[in-house]
Amino acid sequence: MEPSKLPSGFHLLRVGQVRSLTEDAIQIIFEIPDNLISLFLFRPGQHVDIIVEYEGEKLYRSYSICSGDGEPLSIGVKSMAGGKVSNWLKDTVKQGTSLIISEPRGSFMLDPVAKEIVLIGAGSGITPLLSMLKHAYKSSQVPILIYGNKTASSIMFIEDIALCNSKKVYHFLSAEQKAGTYYGRINSENLSELSKKDVSILQADAYYLCGPEEMIADISSFLIKSGVKSTKIHFELFSAPTSISKNETNKKISYSGFCTVLIQFEGDKYSLETNAESTTLLELAKKADIDAPFSCKTGVCGSCRAKVNFGSAVMKSNYALTDEEVTNGYILTCQAIPASSELVISYDD
Ligand code: FES
Repeated sequence: MEPSKLPSGFHLLRVGQVRSLTEDAIQIIFEIPDNLISLFLFRPGQHVDIIVEYEGEKLYRSYSICSGDGEPLSIGVKSMAGGKVSNWLKDTVKQGTSLIISEPRGSFMLDPVAKEIVLIGAGSGITPLLSMLKHAYKSSQVPILIYGNKTASSIMFIEDIALCNSKKVYHFLSAEQKAGTYYGRINSENLSELSKKDVSILQADAYYLCGPEEMIADISSFLIKSGVKSTKIHFELFSAPTSISKNETNKKISYSGFCTVLIQFEGDKYSLETNAESTTLLELAKKADIDAPFSCKTGVCGSCRAKVNFGSAVMKSNYALTDEEVTNGYILTCQAIPASSELVISYDD
C-alpha cells in the first residue's frame, strides 16, 4: 500500500528489532521517525491496529503495546493455530520490514492515580499488562501481577517481568508443576486460595484483566463477590464476548425506512442507499466494495471506527470506544445501524 493511500491514523513504520520470546512468540520493536513521535505517544494498556496484505486480502488485527515509558513502541505477537496474521508476522517480519500501524488507541488504559493495582492475565494477555507493570515500576504505583500459562517455557516476557522487580508476581502453570509457581489455571478457586495468603489482592485500587472471556467473567465475578467494586475492574477481551454484557448499548433503533448514506473513505466519497434495518454500516460499505477497515466485527477491536458528521446511527454494542469518543460522534461501523434518513460518516476523521 502506498503511503499516500494509508487510512487515516495509519503510518508505515520500520521494524527496528524482532526479539524471540518463546517458541511461538516474538516482540516487534518499531522505529518511530521524529515527525511521528507525538502521534505515537501511548498510555499503558492501549493497542495499535496493524494492516497486513495477505494473499491479496487486506487483514486488520489489534495488538497491545507492551512497551514501558520512554521505550520504543513494541508489540508482542503469539502465533495462533490457523492465525493468518500472527503466523505471517512471526515468520516474515525482520529488522527493516515496514508495517502499516495505527496510532495508539483503545480505552483499556492504566489509571495513573490508582496506587495499588492488580494485573491478571493469561498467555498473550500479558502484553498490555506488561506495559502497565513497567509504568508502575517507574512510578509510585504498587503492582501485583497474576499471570497464567501452560508451561514455564511458554511464559512471554519472563525476563522483562523479573526486571520490574515487583515483589508480588504469581505465576500459574496449568500443564506443569514447577517450584516457585502455582499449579492450575487462573480461576476463582485458585484466586480465592491465593487471596487468603495475600489479602492485598482484594484491597487494590484498580484491577486490569486481559485474557479469554471465560477467565475474565470468572475472575470479575469472584472479585465482586469478594467485595471489590465493579467500577474498579477493567478488562480487555481476546475476542468477542458471549456472556459478558458490560457494554451492550441497549439503544433502540427508532428509525425505519430508506437512508441515504454518504461514506467518506481515503478522500473518496460514496453515496449509498439502504433500507435494511439490520444492515450495519460496515456491511453496507463492503457491499459497495469500499475497502473499509475491520477486524473482529463484534465491537471489540475498534478497527472499524468512523465519525458521524451528519444524521445519526445506533450501535448494538461497543467494547472499544471511550465515552468521550462516542460523545464526539465516533461509531463502530460493524455495530452501527442508520437511525436517520440521511447519514454522513467519515473513516478519515
Ligand atoms: S471490526 Fe472490531 S469493533 Fe468493529
